[in-house]
Amino acid sequence: MRTTEEPVGPIGSVTADGEYSGAVGTARDYYNSADADAFYWSVWGGEDIHIGIYDRPDEPIAEASRRTVARMAGQLDLTESSVVLDLGAGFGGSARYLAETYGCRVMALNLSEVENERHRALNAERGLTEAIEVMDGSFESIPLPDDSVDVVWSQDAFLHSGNRARPLEEAAPWRKPGARRRTA
Ligand SMILES: C[S@@+](CC[C@H](N)C(=O)[O-])C[C@H]1O[C@@H](n2cnc3c(N)ncnc32)[C@H](O)[C@@H]1O
Repeated sequence: MRTTEEPVGPIGSVTADGEYSGAVGTARDYYNSADADAFYWSVWGGEDIHIGIYDRPDEPIAEASRRTVARMAGQLDLTESSVVLDLGAGFGGSARYLAETYGCRVMALNLSEVENERHRALNAERGLTEAIEVMDGSFESIPLPDDSVDVVWSQDAFLHSGNRARPLEEAAPWRKPGARRRTA
């Protein structure tokens, strides 16, 4: 397993204007827009932007959302030497939870540069810049070194893909043999 001291290696960045088309381009335009940023940052809370598991109808979004993350993470055997790849990481709420709770390293790939800027700033405020690598890019083309990932994690993101099987292809070389997968 990779240790936290070892660099993950060069990560490709595929964010040049006009490079994305179809569903990916639509999703990028949407999540980079001022309207989406205002809604998810100011109204939804700017941390977790996925479906929550609610204990009661009037429970705050943040509590229910965090319950989803904790339940998914509890099904994994994460340790300080684990490397998690979060596909469509949003503002990085799950990445920060995983890094802070388990001490693991997280590679957070996300299409929206607007969200990624907020993500990096939040990580810096929490002292997590070294633990979480925020990557601009699309999960339909994941440019990672071979055998670099122990866990593939994704929440409420593949719905935006025009080819939903692609990010989960079993033969992806960046997955270590026996790598785990948690998606919602
Ligand atoms: C509903 S948000 C969920 C964000 C995050 N997973 C969470 O749970 O807080 C959907 C996310 O998917 C990302 N996304 C959509 N299509 C993507 C793609 N092709 N590659 C990478 N990220 C993508 C968006 O930028 C957005 O952050």
